[in-house]
Amino acid sequence: MSTDVLSDHELVERLQSLHPAGQALIDEYYRRCIPAYMEFLGIDWHTGFYLHGGDDIGPEDQARMNRHIADSISLAAGDQVLDVGCGVGGPACRLAREYHCRITGLTPVPAQADAARRIARRMGVAERVDFRLGHAGALPCADESFDVVLFFESACHFPDRRRFFAEAFRVLRRGGRLAGEDWLAAEGVGTADAERWLSPLCRHWAIPALDDGPAYVELMRAAGFDRVRFTDMRTEMDLERGFAATPTRQADLAVEIAACRQPFTRLILEGLASLGRAVAAGAFTIGRFTAEKPDR
Ligand SMILES: C[S@@+](CC[C@H](N)C(=O)[O-])C[C@H]1O[C@@H](n2cnc3c(N)ncnc32)[C@H](O)[C@@H]1O
Repeated sequence: MSTDVLSDHELVERLQSLHPAGQALIDEYYRRCIPAYMEFLGIDWHTGFYLHGGDDIGPEDQARMNRHIADSISLAAGDQVLDVGCGVGGPACRLAREYHCRITGLTPVPAQADAARRIARRMGVAERVDFRLGHAGALPCADESFDVVLFFESACHFPDRRRFFAEAFRVLRRGGRLAGEDWLAAEGVGTADAERWLSPLCRHWAIPALDDGPAYVELMRAAGFDRVRFTDMRTEMDLERGFAATPTRQADLAVEIAACRQPFTRLILEGLASLGRAVAAGAFTIGRFTAEKPDR
């Protein structure tokens, strides 16, 4: 049965039972989630950079994360940028507006690209961004056509991250920069803890499997990148603030889950609960990466 005729209930069932999810299911998840993600996350579908000592979380945290990643590779006006797995284009539009660079966002989901184009027009950056359809494992881009490749919490969904880093290398010019941040298994998590804490969240969030930071570093080096750097972001931000990692917040979520009748919203709430538990157990983290394509 084609994925687009599944009811929300059937889609949720498949995500739970057909693990690891294949790309068609992941793409359908990312088509259906658009209204819920826009409501919960706004236009940036990724974690914020949470300062220590803050209270609420909001769009300014996500915008701070965009800038943190952009600044990590000194994004500059004039850079030609590819954002792989761009969602509805929040990071691409914000960065194009703030850094005056040109950005191409890539998504496999036509409805995301349509939403991204509307958001770009609304934000007044339509002449500096464009959105293309395609998958990370076969980028629809010419060799050596970008100065920068970015990813914001998209690579964890890619069924073949090795291919993605090889493709990123191919489309970058010599001396080009790669930067991104992603959901990761914390270093040193054993098989039993991975099964206990990470498998549930992968099923909730349409993630084939979580790798740790050193695994990404190895894939980037194997693709040909040098100056590869990995930072576990628990060392530089208040990761727990973004997640339901305390017993009180878990209890609040449990009440919401019990009251929720909409299968897709319930999946998201259950996902927030499993993420919070994985954060509290120290099994999950967010990592950021920078790397360069050698200039000769
Ligand atoms: C968590 S969202 C992040 C979206 C965006 N980077 C942001 O931060 O707003 C993950 C994105 O990865 C995309 N994605 C999933 N699998 C993909 C693949 N194989 N190639 C490219 N994008 C993919 C999804 O459609 C979605 O847009």
